[in-house]
Amino acid sequence: MKKVLITGGAGFIGSTVASALLDRGITPVVLDDLSRGRTEFVADRLFYRGDIADAALLDRIFAEHPDIDATVHCAAKIVVPESVAKPLYYYRENVAKTVELLDALQRHGCTRVVFSSSASIYAPTPDARVDESSPVDAGSPYARTKQMMEQVLQDWTRGEGAERQRVIALRYFNPIGADPQLRTGLQDLRPTHALGKLIEAHTTGTPFTVTGTDWATRDGSGIRDYVHVQDLAEAHVAALLRFDEVIAPGVADRYRVINVGTGDGTTVRELIAAFEQAVGASLEVREAGPRPGDVIGCYAVVDTARDLLGWQPRRGIAEGVADALAWRRVWSARIAVS
Ligand SMILES: NC(=O)c1ccc[n+]([C@@H]2O[C@H](COP(=O)([O-])OP(=O)(O)OC[C@H]3O[C@@H](n4cnc5c(N)ncnc54)[C@H](O)[C@@H]3O)[C@@H](O)[C@H]2O)c1
Repeated sequence: MKKVLITGGAGFIGSTVASALLDRGITPVVLDDLSRGRTEFVADRLFYRGDIADAALLDRIFAEHPDIDATVHCAAKIVVPESVAKPLYYYRENVAKTVELLDALQRHGCTRVVFSSSASIYAPTPDARVDESSPVDAGSPYARTKQMMEQVLQDWTRGEGAERQRVIALRYFNPIGADPQLRTGLQDLRPTHALGKLIEAHTTGTPFTVTGTDWATRDGSGIRDYVHVQDLAEAHVAALLRFDEVIAPGVADRYRVINVGTGDGTTVRELIAAFEQAVGASLEVREAGPRPGDVIGCYAVVDTARDLLGWQPRRGIAEGVADALAWRRVWSARIAVS
């Protein structure tokens, strides 16, 4: 594997994947419309600004890089409340444009795809633990676009003359942290996920609110599986390097789902404790009912990733917190001067 197209490679996860590929001597070619991606994240990389559905641009990319071996498809609109407000926009951007992208990949014989899927498509389970065969029932338009894209990709591997078309769908759990070398990280200084809110409470001296304290978990707060984004990026490298072993060309089933989490559930209260330990300070914590759309959450069974990819997470929550804080310092200083 020498060269890989990364859609959405100027975003949080795609840019970390691009760095992990570079570290392994694989050249990333980034395609991103910069709707949320950052030019700073692609400054030293092969970069095409544009839309994943732009057939002419895809033709140009493959003309200039006929040696692209695979595609990592990260590009998507990802904001859940926005997807509730503008569902058609989300179905067009994520689902319809993925169809156009696949058309271009097929035309250029680029038949290996690693897809950014999401644990948010899983239906709630009684013990919050999910493996790849657990039922799916996405709870928001955003998550439904991910579920639909998985279906589109699976069908793509089954079409006429599709013997070489193969997809590994990585279902990400909750990415935290940043590239440990601080090349890239979250573009947003005020992320809305729990760790983002903890950082905000810590840096501004305001209280942190636990939303939802009556869930059927060990302490009543919601549960998630926080995976360091660098570990997540390394799972992509493993999927690419082992692609033909995981799905040989021509085998009957050419679509494979793999959970990428830590295998450990962490409740919101446990996350607060881990955060306080990592920063050496305590927070003022308040409690409130769940917000509309909140769910109990889930955590991953990660045996498939271990067995098929030889991948295991290496970093814990403390490293995720430390890297997120370090990145925030570097990034806020950088955007303040630009
Ligand atoms: N961040 C998470 O918690 C999480 C969890 C599970 C799955 N995912 C998935 O991982 C992928 C990356 O997420 P992220 O957190 O890095 O988000 P992000 O917004 O940082 O990255 C997405 C990138 O795609 C680009 N993009 C969007 N639409 C495009 C289009 N039509 N053409 C070209 N580029 C386009 C954006 O500019 C952005 O750089 C997404 O597919 C997302 O659904 C993310």
